[in-house]
Amino acid sequence: MSLLEILTYPDPRLKTISAPVTEFDAKLQAFLIDLENTMRAGPGGVGIAAPQVGCFQRIVLLDVSSKPKIKHHGNLVLINPEITQWEGFEIGREGCMSVPDYTGNVIRAQYLHLMAQDQHGIQHEYDMEGFEARAIQHELDHLDGLLFIDRLVSRRHDLFRRKVYVSIQTQPHLSSEKAIDR
Ligand code: NI
Repeated sequence: MSLLEILTYPDPRLKTISAPVTEFDAKLQAFLIDLENTMRAGPGGVGIAAPQVGCFQRIVLLDVSSKPKIKHHGNLVLINPEITQWEGFEIGREGCMSVPDYTGNVIRAQYLHLMAQDQHGIQHEYDMEGFEARAIQHELDHLDGLLFIDRLVSRRHDLFRRKVYVSIQTQPHLSSEKAIDR
């Protein structure tokens, strides 16, 4: 199993607009395995976008099923994802493997309709809400070169430094923030 290196802010490559996937070949399938392992190795680990590991293609993995009492679609491979409808908005706390030291309050749509291909190129549609909808909006931003810190209304009021209570060497994933890590 190989883990891929995560690009972190302010790496300028994170601003890249990713290209659509056109080949659903063995190379893609192998990349998806490495990408999933990398997502699950991270703190939180509910989602990852290919550009976070330096692959500038429109690929997102999402699995919010570990969160209690929320509606979700399980473990999703979302290729060339597109949001076609949005409804409502709410503010919520987000974190990101590419912005490891901070969390932030971001306004996102509450409900959305998503179209995406799976790993074989077959088109699917999803109605998402709440946490899962927030997560996909966050990941889709990565495909367009945006981070959650680009969405803050006010850096002064909506950006929070993570407070690590235990030494980083002994507890790399322990943090006081119950934030979403994506
Ligand atoms: Ni992220």
